Amino acid sequence: MIDDPTTGRRRTTVDTTSLPRPLERPRRLRGGEAMRSLVSETRLSAEQLVVPYFVVPGTGEVQPITSLPGVSRFSVDKLLPELERALKLGIRSAVLFGVVPDRDKGPGADRADDPEGPVASALRAARSEFGNDIVLVTDVCLCGYTDHGHCGLLAHRPRGTIIHNDSSLARLASMAVVHAEAGADIVSPSDMMDGRVAAIRSALDSAGHEEVAILSYAVKYASAFYGPFRDAAGSAPKGDSRAPKDRRTYQMDPANAREARREAELDEREGADMLMVKPALPYLDVLARLRPTTNLPLAAYQVSGEYAMYKAAAAAGALDEADAVRESLLAIRRAGADLILSYYAVEALDKGWI
Ligand code: PBG
Repeated sequence: MIDDPTTGRRRTTVDTTSLPRPLERPRRLRGGEAMRSLVSETRLSAEQLVVPYFVVPGTGEVQPITSLPGVSRFSVDKLLPELERALKLGIRSAVLFGVVPDRDKGPGADRADDPEGPVASALRAARSEFGNDIVLVTDVCLCGYTDHGHCGLLAHRPRGTIIHNDSSLARLASMAVVHAEAGADIVSPSDMMDGRVAAIRSALDSAGHEEVAILSYAVKYASAFYGPFRDAAGSAPKGDSRAPKDRRTYQMDPANAREARREAELDEREGADMLMVKPALPYLDVLARLRPTTNLPLAAYQVSGEYAMYKAAAAAGALDEADAVRESLLAIRRAGADLILSYYAVEALDKGWI
């Protein structure tokens, strides 16, 4: 320690010649953008992204969703130009969610398999417009079609109302067949009933749709991050006297990771062609654990609440949206996802973020 003659403060000096010199220098490979990209382990590209769309009945409908800034519900005629825009940006796949008015909902989800419903209509229109240039995925779930907002049908038992597994399977299977008939490449059950992959596979095969694939939401947690989606789809569980107000009797407990392997193995055995983990960012550990256990493609869903958080943080000036979105998508890929469902897909490509 010596006194600095100008400031009078005490300053520590170290003899640099006595310090060990680094034996390895990882920084050599970080010196510039070209060098960094040469050794980058994880890539993001347009064709790994699947863009979600909410489809409503009617024509001329563009309904912005307040809790998902930048995302709207579209009627089929308005959806087609959106799909075209996505295709031009290099995206090759979209997942469709149907949204129907309350008057079309009921305890039996009767409209879930309506061949004239918004999803089936969108499938036919998109298929005739874009042929096989686009991979069309559909959400198979009853929550958008039940008046109570649950993903399955209710049954009343002495201990209370339950979401009844086996009666829901037939409705889900019939919905999947209607989607296949309308031109879906992939049906994607998100309801979390037990045995639905087997039920859907068998129904598709007996209807002659053995080529239609199943992307199973195998590992879907009972998450707080679905809030904006439930606004968008009008599918929040109502929680009235008839039914519970959450989905914890069928979606997974956020505390569980071993159980994720069990769900994934079950769905693989039942005939799933791809598996999904959802939400994405809070469950990267789960993705990383599943990756070495399956040879199936793994998808991750960057859900509505994740999207809404980045939007809100960016609007508050708390983070750079482009950098944050790129980093989060990269993290999801690095953890083991082959494909990512993201509301950011179009914006990120359009603005050159990825
Ligand atoms: C329907 C379904 C949900 C999501 C996808 N399919 C909501 C839920 O389970 O309550 C969430 C997607 C998102 O938040 O972006 N079962």
